Amino acid sequence: MATMKAEKKKGTVIVVSGIQWGDEGKGKVIDQESQEADLIVRHGGGNNAGHTVMVADIFNGGQQIPMVLHLLPSAVARRKAIAIGAGVVVDPLALVNEVDYVSSFGYGEVRRTLSVDPRTALVTVIERVMDMAQELIRSRNGKPIGTTARGIGPAYAGVANRTALKVADLLHPKQLCTLLEQRLEEATRLFRAMGITSTQWRQIFADLTGMELRANQRLIERKLRTEADFDYTVFASANGKVGFNFAAIEAAYQNAAHLITSWRGVRDVSDLIRRTVMLSGRVLLEGAQGAMLDVNFGSWPNVTSSHTLAGGACTGLGIGPTLIDTSIGVAKGYTTRVGSGPLPTRITEPEIAASIHQRGNEFGASTGRPRDVGWFDAVIARSACWWNLVQTVRLLKLDVLSGLDEIKICFRYCLNGERFYQVPADYHQLNDSGLEPEYLTLPGWEQDISKVRRWRDLPKEVKGYVAKIEQLLNERLPQRVTIDQIGIGPGPDQYLTR
Ligand code: IMP
Repeated sequence: MATMKAEKKKGTVIVVSGIQWGDEGKGKVIDQESQEADLIVRHGGGNNAGHTVMVADIFNGGQQIPMVLHLLPSAVARRKAIAIGAGVVVDPLALVNEVDYVSSFGYGEVRRTLSVDPRTALVTVIERVMDMAQELIRSRNGKPIGTTARGIGPAYAGVANRTALKVADLLHPKQLCTLLEQRLEEATRLFRAMGITSTQWRQIFADLTGMELRANQRLIERKLRTEADFDYTVFASANGKVGFNFAAIEAAYQNAAHLITSWRGVRDVSDLIRRTVMLSGRVLLEGAQGAMLDVNFGSWPNVTSSHTLAGGACTGLGIGPTLIDTSIGVAKGYTTRVGSGPLPTRITEPEIAASIHQRGNEFGASTGRPRDVGWFDAVIARSACWWNLVQTVRLLKLDVLSGLDEIKICFRYCLNGERFYQVPADYHQLNDSGLEPEYLTLPGWEQDISKVRRWRDLPKEVKGYVAKIEQLLNERLPQRVTIDQIGIGPGPDQYLTR
């Protein structure tokens, strides 16, 4: 029988995933890891994500300021090749704005370094209105998800329904118009059937306008755009009649299509990865959101609509699982979540919650909503380490915990006498108000650790806290998980290697 000679695969592929409810600080990790990478690729989600990286503002004396990215991989400031894979959903209007936004910091070459897979589904104003209309209906029933209103759920539904528009359609202006018209007609019928009143309809577009103005403040401040450019109310009526303004919508998407195609970056991203690996390159796969927001494994139904786990990189990018060499998990030293849904380790002492909230600046990067805060939850992080087969964890924002007398870590849940070391698979149990987190209590530390530069100079309580979390993560897992780095502040150098 012929045997196959095992040959070492070329290149290195690393996937970075959030192991909590998103907002773990993946942007910072990607930014750091990308220094060594040749290609950085987003594999899922859309502009619901918000990744903050500190960058030099080239047009403003080079001072370090935060840049918030929603669609572009968090490596734009490294001037590397970046890509958006087929598993992402792209709002073309948002993409054009974001490219202008990063250009306003002095990183305009992104127009040349960005590749977008033609298979990527589009988010249009139809999906955004649908997202808001569905939230309206869910709120009426007392069960809103608290979505980011970026049209993510309806866009992925469009993929599953096989009705979504694709980035490939941007390359074919005539077909784009025809497809958009068909979708607008279908959507009009759907909104009528949903019973959305004309007042609600106008309100949705007014809210969208408000959101866009907030999101694009920098472009307006820098006079790169005017407020009128973000007026979504023009899409809400035609000739005084309530309903989609087909002409205005088609013009907006034709314009975005023209700009995006002029960058010449619409190309097969799976194939780009293949070529990079063939040349022994290093590829970084950037996840969005976190494990507990995964559409299959997250805290149902308060989840996003994409596959946020490392496996999502395979389905979202057209690569096989054995291509991935390393799985990095990112967590904060405590837990946060934004939107509705359970947070078992919610901090009940208001002063402690307020301190973490304020010191950690815990506001959603996409929506500005305050995030709820909780103690570190080793149950969800441990499950996420399994789901992603995480080998190394980056534990960030430990500086935020300075000044607390005691710090708690949840090591398991208890419900009706049953003990859980992994997230309960039955979502009714996770949502049960009787679910009790069980805690270990560790001593806190007084010192500001944000200026410490060597691991050995850290207070022993910090080292003890990290070691305990590592020990808890490793319980009942087949792989070895190590916490190899911690974050002690927002700056790119505020990392300590253990
Ligand atoms: P959607 O992704 O906009 O549909 O929102 C679904 C849920 O995921 C909501 O609870 C959002 O707050 C949450 N979510 C989506 N993206 C992020 C993120 O990047 N960080 C944290 N939560 C997010």
